[in-house]
Amino acid sequence: MDEPIFSLKDVYFSYLGKYPALRGIDMDIRQGEKITVLGANGSGKSTLLHLLDGLIFPQQGAIRAFGVALQEGVFNDADFSRDFRKKVGLVFQNPDIQLFCPTVEEDICFGPLQLGVGEKETACRLEKIADDLGIDDLLQRSPHQLSVGEKRKVAIASTLIIEPQVLVLDEPTAGLDPKTSCAIVEIILRANSAGRTIITATHDLHIVEEISDRVYVLSREKKIARVEEPERLLADSRFLEEHNLIHTHAHCHQRQAHTHPHQHPGPDHHH
Ligand SMILES: Nc1ncnc2c1ncn2[C@@H]1O[C@H](COP(=O)(O)OP(=O)(O)OP(=O)(O)O)[C@@H](O)[C@H]1O
Ligand SMILES: [Mg+2]
Repeated sequence: MDEPIFSLKDVYFSYLGKYPALRGIDMDIRQGEKITVLGANGSGKSTLLHLLDGLIFPQQGAIRAFGVALQEGVFNDADFSRDFRKKVGLVFQNPDIQLFCPTVEEDICFGPLQLGVGEKETACRLEKIADDLGIDDLLQRSPHQLSVGEKRKVAIASTLIIEPQVLVLDEPTAGLDPKTSCAIVEIILRANSAGRTIITATHDLHIVEEISDRVYVLSREKKIARVEEPERLLADSRFLEEHNLIHTHAHCHQRQAHTHPHQHPGPDHHH
């Protein structure tokens, strides 16, 4: 079997040394896999993705990416840094962090131009991605004036255009309408068929089956509660409820209070 591209061993991370965000994380990710991270708010999903993207480093345990330990100082090596940034692309949960240019077009083209992709090639990629995401009419606008969903699409475009080997997506469908969510899932699947590795944090159970070979569920204790194929996990409504991934409705039928689990309608049933 191939060497994992990411390997995490007993990784611990806390913010400011006092707010634990991940504990004892073990994880191996191989090239071409589709990995999903689920968990309640605050369970550590974004922190995990930031570790994978080399933005923060484990305080205990170790993380290796492409055979190199990701630790303080590793990005001081300009060659490693450039190579890593070409290989791994993160779409942040909050698109405002990613968007800083005067126009959408400049924002989307910023990454590839920085990384040495030529202007012609960049323009060519831009045209295709803008078309795929339906954002042609936003290109000359200011990113800060866009709606939440429009911003998210632009943020996704600005990562996709780098054509990273590993695509790391933090809640890529949050705030998107059903048709746009579908388009994002299609883009993810197309990237995966081309051999790219996809790592997604999400709350959107409707997309989990399609975008995952394996799902990691983080618990409120910020540990891995379960690792499983999506079909079996999605069938376990008790477990999903326990981890805030589905909720119980409480309401009245003919004056009788009663609760029942919120049904998960299945992957082909976008709402
Ligand atoms: N900058 C920060 N400073 C201090 N604590 C933080 C910071 N960012 C996150 N945390 C804490 O770390 C824990 C994990 O946060 P994280 O953002 O990784 O969760 P998440 O699973 O992505 O949540 P959500 O579903 O809300 O996006 C939480 O308890 C949070 O309060
Ligand atoms: Mg998050």
